[in-house]
Amino acid sequence: MSLLPIRTYGDPVLRSRAKEIEDIDGKLAALVEDMIETMYDAPGVGLAAPQVGVDRRLFVYDIGEGPKVLVNPEIKESSGEWVYEEGCLSVPGLWWPITRPKDVLIVGIDLEGNEVEVEGSELLGRVFQHEFDHLEGVLLVERLDEDQRKKAMKIIRTEVVKGGGSMMRPPKEQE
Ligand code: NI
Repeated sequence: MSLLPIRTYGDPVLRSRAKEIEDIDGKLAALVEDMIETMYDAPGVGLAAPQVGVDRRLFVYDIGEGPKVLVNPEIKESSGEWVYEEGCLSVPGLWWPITRPKDVLIVGIDLEGNEVEVEGSELLGRVFQHEFDHLEGVLLVERLDEDQRKKAMKIIRTEVVKGGGSMMRPPKEQE
């Protein structure tokens, strides 16, 4: 196992739609192991393949119930509304209150090739939506309202793109 470098804001791999995974093989299983290790090391509660430079539809997550993986996930249903201070390992050290659906039903494939269906509410639902966005090439800054986004872009240009991330805030969940 090895730690993978996490791509940050400005890297084009974070902006393109990731490709479907066709073969679940040993190489994919090794990538998943490395992604889980990288997620724990960061630390984060979720990590999508494009964040480690792999243009494939896959993410790992763990909100305290053990590591899980979803391959080729699709959000089937979403409902409700929930505000949460959301952060991202690719936009390190920054969090914004973002409103998204509270409950989601996601389907995907596990490493054994079985179709799995998972319901996620609150934090888990948020992780699913955030990681799914990564597979679509969408970053959390695009989920901000216009005023929030203008302020966010100023901070990102000075603190994230020029390196290091912000140390203004204590560690919280990042995805
Ligand atoms: Ni993220």
